[in-house]
Order: sequence, then C-alpha cells, then structure tokens
Amino acid sequence: MHTQILNGARTDDLSRAAALLKSGALVAFPTETVYGLGADASNDAAVARIFAAKGRPADHPLIVHIAKATDMAYWACEIPDLAWKLAERFWPGPLTLILHRQPGRANAASAGLPTIGLRVPGHPVALALLEQFGGGLAAPSANRFGRISPTAAAHVLAELEGRIEAVLDGGACTVGLESTILDLSGERPRILRPGAITAADIGVLVGELAPADAAAPRAPGTLEAHYAPGTPLRLMTPEQFESELAELSADETLIIMAQREYPGWLATSMRCRWITMPADPAAYGAVLYARLREADVIGCQRIVVVLPPREAQWEAVHDRLMRAAAGAGAHVGE
Ligand code: TXA
Ligand code: MG
Repeated sequence: MHTQILNGARTDDLSRAAALLKSGALVAFPTETVYGLGADASNDAAVARIFAAKGRPADHPLIVHIAKATDMAYWACEIPDLAWKLAERFWPGPLTLILHRQPGRANAASAGLPTIGLRVPGHPVALALLEQFGGGLAAPSANRFGRISPTAAAHVLAELEGRIEAVLDGGACTVGLESTILDLSGERPRILRPGAITAADIGVLVGELAPADAAAPRAPGTLEAHYAPGTPLRLMTPEQFESELAELSADETLIIMAQREYPGWLATSMRCRWITMPADPAAYGAVLYARLREADVIGCQRIVVVLPPREAQWEAVHDRLMRAAAGAGAHVGE
C-alpha cells in the first residue's frame, strides 16, 4: 500500500481525507496533542484495521473524536451535568471524557466496553476534517503499539508508512503529550492518564477526584512500559547525574537530555551529546517526543534524562518519562 501525504491547509486535500475515511480507509490526522490514526468510528471493519496497523491488542479501547460537544449525546448515555460543564470549559482541547456508551454505537472502537472515550480535539485541521466527514473518528495515537506517539507527519510515516492510506499533514503538534483522560463513568471522577489539563484545572469544576487506581482502568497508557524509544533510557535526578556521570560516560556513548546548558565541568572528551530541554512544562511537553525520536536516530548506547522538578505541573511529563524508561530498548509490541 502507498501512503498518500495530504496537506491539511488545502481544502481539496481535506475533502480527499474525508472521502477516504468514508470509504473505510485509515487516515492519520493532526490534533493539538499528537497525531491520531483515524477511521470511521461507526465502521467496525475499518476500526479493526487500526488495531492491525498499530499491532495493538484488540481489548484496548480507542478514543472517538467528535466535532462538537452536542455530539456526545449520540455516542454516550446517562451523561452527567459535569460532563457538559467540562466540555464547555475545556473543549475543543486535550481532555478525553469516559462516559457510559450508547448501546450499539462504536462497538469495535470501545473494544466492547460499556463505556466510551470522547474528545473534541483543539486543532483547526482536525475540526475541519471532522466537520467534512460528518461523523465520529476513532483514533489512537498514530504509532506502533508501545512506541513514542507522533507529533509531526514525518513521525507518522516513520511508524506507519505503507500500512495506512494517508496522512493529513497539519504541522507540529503544539501540546505534544496525549490528552488527559477523565473517567466520569464511576461514582467519583478519576483521572486515568495525566495530561496538559491538570487535576488542579479540572478540580475547579469537579471538586474531589477519586485517587488514581493503577489496577482499575483499562488503558495502555497505564501499562508500565509505553511511549518508549528504541534506545535504553535512564532517568536521573540532577544530584545523581552530577555524581554518576563520569562513571557512566566512561562505559557508554550517551545522549543527555537536561534542562541546563552544557556544563563546563563536562570534559569534551566524554562520548556524549547534550540536548538542552525547556524550563517550562508546556514547552517541555511540546518537544519531548520529537527529542526522544531524534535521540533514537542519532544513535547511542543510552539516553540519560535528567528529571525536571517533582512538582504538580510536571506530572504528565514525569508520567511519560517513567513509562519511556520502563519500555525503552525493549521494542514493546514489535
Ligand atoms: O491525545 C490523545 O488522547 C490522542 C489523540 C490522537 O487524540 N489519542 C490517544 O489515543 O492518545 P490512544 O489510543 O493512544 O490512547 C487512548 C487511551 C488509551 O489508554 C485507552 O485505553 C483509553 O484512552 N480509553 C479509551 N476508551 C476508554 C474507555 N472506554 N475506558 C477507559 N479507557 C479508555
Ligand atoms: Mg497511544
């Protein structure tokens, strides 16, 4: 199969993408978080092809992307007032709501669960595509299962070229980390995956959140190893880094990702490359996956990430770094 590259800024390319999706094809499209691998959420055969293209286990549900909040009522039932309030406040945006599923809708996308994940993405190309398409788009991140999510069309091609009909290019994703997932199907709202919209942001409307429960949610984002580069990755605190680097770099070629500039005390003879990461959590999240991909392409024996501060606004970045470290080098799902 040849994967077409379509330009999200061109109306005829958008129409082409919508027509492909209507015919049951797979089209990757940009969102503000990461690129999604889209298929018609009402076409179970098309959705089955997403699982095959990604190598994703069939029991992992997909998010259904919708054009506007009022579409929630088509896909979900018993929608609490809170869902409407959250939608009004955060949509279009990087928040996925888990709700009770309308029986018979999105059977394959929701992997047979009684619940469904819904989101209105905050990207003009995604919204234009949804508008033209006129239905819901089931879309996981457009990467092979377990690997780093794509934040540019070129990343999608690196992962899925020849396995999908097209990719709609909408430039680099601005958020860069997957959406916050909030489960509203239980007794108390619970965050299943941290993202750019934080517990504090949500708390303003929600009040008390249920504590995170690692055992309960069915989310690959909750598997320990995920979002992983092919190169082994080690996380270090700034203190560990200062005390152990000389030893580490004597044995291995390293790529070091840290929030400070290349330090003078680091001898140039050491076999390492330095990548300076942003000091602000939103900017860090926006570039993290692209930097990890670059590190894989440059090639070295190990990636060392010096951890950002342990503060609430860094939760999503910490979450992805921990999973990347757990899965790195293991080639999860391949
Ligand atoms: O930002 C995002 O959310 C991106 C863009 C493309 O929208 N999508 C994304 O999809 O990250 P994916 O499939 O890689 O992750 C979706 C997560 C999975 O962890 C899945 O298990 C969870 O959402 N999920 C979907 N439906 C669910 C449900 N009914 N109950 C619990 N978790 C659900
Ligand atoms: Mg994913």
